[in-house]
Amino acid sequence: MKKIGFLLSVGFLVFVSSCTKENGAVPDNGGVYNPTIVDPTEIFPAEFGMPLLPKDNPFTEEGIMLGRMLFYDPMLSIDSSISCASCHRQEYAFAEPLDKSVGFRGLRASRSSMPLFNLAYHHSYFWDTRVKTLRELVFEPIQAHNEMAMTLPTLRDRLKRNKRYVDYFKKAFNHEPNLHDMSLAMEQFLLSIVSKDSRFNKFFPGDDLSVLSPSELRGAFIYNGLIEFDDNGVTKGADCFHCHGGELSQQLNASMGGIASNGLDPEPVDLGVGGVTNRNQDMGVFKAPSLLNIAVTAPYMHDGRFQTLEEVIDHYSEGVNFDHPNIHPQMAAHGGMQLNLSKQQKEDLIAYLKSMTDSTLLVNPAYSNPF
Ligand code: HEC
Ligand code: HEC
Repeated sequence: MKKIGFLLSVGFLVFVSSCTKENGAVPDNGGVYNPTIVDPTEIFPAEFGMPLLPKDNPFTEEGIMLGRMLFYDPMLSIDSSISCASCHRQEYAFAEPLDKSVGFRGLRASRSSMPLFNLAYHHSYFWDTRVKTLRELVFEPIQAHNEMAMTLPTLRDRLKRNKRYVDYFKKAFNHEPNLHDMSLAMEQFLLSIVSKDSRFNKFFPGDDLSVLSPSELRGAFIYNGLIEFDDNGVTKGADCFHCHGGELSQQLNASMGGIASNGLDPEPVDLGVGGVTNRNQDMGVFKAPSLLNIAVTAPYMHDGRFQTLEEVIDHYSEGVNFDHPNIHPQMAAHGGMQLNLSKQQKEDLIAYLKSMTDSTLLVNPAYSNPF
């Protein structure tokens, strides 16, 4: 009797611990290849439309989970100290509250970390748009000497020696661990991160004005209004939407303002896109980021020069460098006149920007650390 009681309680313990594993996410697995296909319509909301997805890398539950494990695993850095999530933290919409990211042995990255969501809709990645696919992108931070400082042969060997990854690569791809499948799994996970639940997204495209407070609504009109000065030199609109418009709060078309100089400096300091293409018209030009979740992704701009949204708005209101050789025409649409927004207009604009925070993204268990 005693013995049975003992066995039962052992059984109970095993049961409890496997349940905890399910909740903590990484499910126990026998390394059996029987992937569960995930329909993209379950991931992407109808109102965003369907992004162009890589045809050779269909979403599977196992692929997304493997990508998520790798994203959170410090084993991907040479001294096992840094994971992707060290610089891309969920509570900050997968950005990081630092002007320049800190990587391997405290070395600084040259730019500010970027938030990660709705990446499936982007056509290129990084502040200078130098990479076109996420499967290529992952190899950059892994190998950068000031980020994860890893070498690819070492990483491959590490994954191959790790029982959990041997099982999981088998389960997701029916192969032993290899770097190509690693990059596909991470691509699946990164593509699957969606931000859609902000109040701004409930408001957009503006059919129901009651979703926003009076101040936020005034901010919406400033944000989406064209720059036109009245006789008193007051502008109703600040024309943010040309480069940060639509339901993703981001212009995806490079030639329409998706890549621009917003006049931060009188002349290019960091060459941005020009550093990649070497063309004059790209010098000091950067990807215009989405403003979804902007309230949680400080500091701002590619070099993290602004600590607060107030500082950002002051830049657009009275600090634009119209001398920048590649300032976007939309920035100078008003003949090089500073907007000089009133205190109230600035507050309203900031209130509107704050309605773009999707608090579910910041805690969504589907994107959290699975270990
Ligand atoms: C040391 C900090 C650090 C680590 C570690 C790191 N990143 Fe980043 N990440 C950055 C910085 C900084 C940028 C912007 C770099 C640039 O534009 O040159 C960035 C940009 C990105 C972007 C581009 C987003 C966009 O909108 O264009 C993606 C995607 C990304 N990282 C994914 C990852 C993944 C996946 C990993 C792990 C393999 C990772 N990062 C590891 C700091 C880091
Ligand atoms: C001509 C295109 C353009 C216009 C118009 C524009 N922006 Fe930007 N915005 C950009 C670009 C490009 C960046 C990134 C610049 C950089 O880092 O060098 C940026 C960056 C930002 C950032 C920081 C984002 C981050 O993740 O760090 C905020 C906030 C912002 N803009 C708000 C606004 C507001 C508010 C307006 C209207 C007053 C506006 N922008 C108008 C192109 C534009």
